[in-house]
Amino acid sequence: MSQSSPFLLKSQTRARWMRLDTAQLLKRFYFCERKILTSCAAWIPATASLEIKTTLARFVWQNAETAHALRNRVFELRFPNRVLEEEGADQTLVELFGAAKDSPSVPAFLLCIGKVLLPALRDSYQAYLTSSDSIADGPTHRFLSLALTEKLEQIAAFERWAESELSSCPALRAGAHEWAAAVADRLSQVEGIGVATSSAGASTGPLPGRMTYSIPDRPARDSRFWPCRFYWPDIVDPTFPYGEGMQLQLRSAVSHINEVWAIETGGVMLSAFADVLPWEWIHDSARWTYDESRHCRMGYERLVAWGFDLAQIPVGTYIYDSASGQDPIYRLGMLYFFETKNIRHKLRRAQLFHKYGDALSEHDMDFDWADETIHAGYGKHWLSELLAARGEDPAAQDLIRQRCGELVASYVATATAQEVTDIKRIASALMKQAEQKQPYLQTEPSD
Ligand SMILES: [Fe+2]
Ligand SMILES: [Fe+2]
Repeated sequence: MSQSSPFLLKSQTRARWMRLDTAQLLKRFYFCERKILTSCAAWIPATASLEIKTTLARFVWQNAETAHALRNRVFELRFPNRVLEEEGADQTLVELFGAAKDSPSVPAFLLCIGKVLLPALRDSYQAYLTSSDSIADGPTHRFLSLALTEKLEQIAAFERWAESELSSCPALRAGAHEWAAAVADRLSQVEGIGVATSSAGASTGPLPGRMTYSIPDRPARDSRFWPCRFYWPDIVDPTFPYGEGMQLQLRSAVSHINEVWAIETGGVMLSAFADVLPWEWIHDSARWTYDESRHCRMGYERLVAWGFDLAQIPVGTYIYDSASGQDPIYRLGMLYFFETKNIRHKLRRAQLFHKYGDALSEHDMDFDWADETIHAGYGKHWLSELLAARGEDPAAQDLIRQRCGELVASYVATATAQEVTDIKRIASALMKQAEQKQPYLQTEPSD
């Protein structure tokens, strides 16, 4: 800096990035987050462990919140420009982040996210927070610090999951490591995420070992539970009562844990329409998917608190299966119609649980009810948006609902006599165990 300048000049690190440079970096982070969360959502059905499914859903939601905050911040910095749907010079990098969706196996997917892509984001956020100006860019510092903390938890979880998947399936180990190494190589070729100006590198073609993603026809299931398609007798026998008293407590907890289908469906539909619908779709369906994972955990935690043997808890697949091989619009339809159809029963059931002194079921049902009212709004809005985006009549919602009902009915009709006998046997064994915990299923010792 010239000492002869007539101006006040002093080198200041605060001024490293100007407003538009900052917007450029945050836009890059937004696209990377968006790709990671979309891949995680798509892989929920293929993972078996209930812990992985429910936690993936939580991470999808966390990353959607981060992406949402990044996106809004870019708009603030670039006012009045609100065009953000182009990756620009970051296209090759963003494509690489999207490649995780085409991972060749579950452990390969977990390794490339947990060992390569998330650590790259973690390092960039750390570098950004160190080098950017916490005065001028204070709003970014707040949400990016939170995102960094979340990344640390996510990385630790992915590493743990990858290791446990690899030890239960050692045949996949070599391929999974090769895949993660290929993603890491490509990331260094495009010079990582970093915080430097990117130069649009030429796309170097498909990664070796990739397998084009397709929606799994059947969802993977956690082997700790009793595997089935139809998880309670009333699904296959309309004369079987939903029940009151202890049967209602049990039925409701089994319903909640079986909302695992709703997590899987949420993830699949998020990913299926990520490039068809506006960003708000991803943001809403991430929250939707996360909410369903909380409902599933509510059921799991109640059953555990009551002391049931997990090997006797039926965890089914029928609603997920019913939409397999169909246009993914029916996944959205299933979640909208079948998850929200019981809203009207929920408050009454919460009151019954209150009467039984079962505060935990009451509490869970009450929170679930609040979530469902949000989901009803999502379903109505996004189904008509999707129909409109396809140039179809938004009023065709009724046809989708009808078709969803037919798909489930025809799938239920495939229940074999053996399946009906088996689920009745399991349900009555659970009721017998519950009766030994008379008068109601208590989670805490009563006075
Ligand atoms: Fe739910
Ligand atoms: Fe729901």
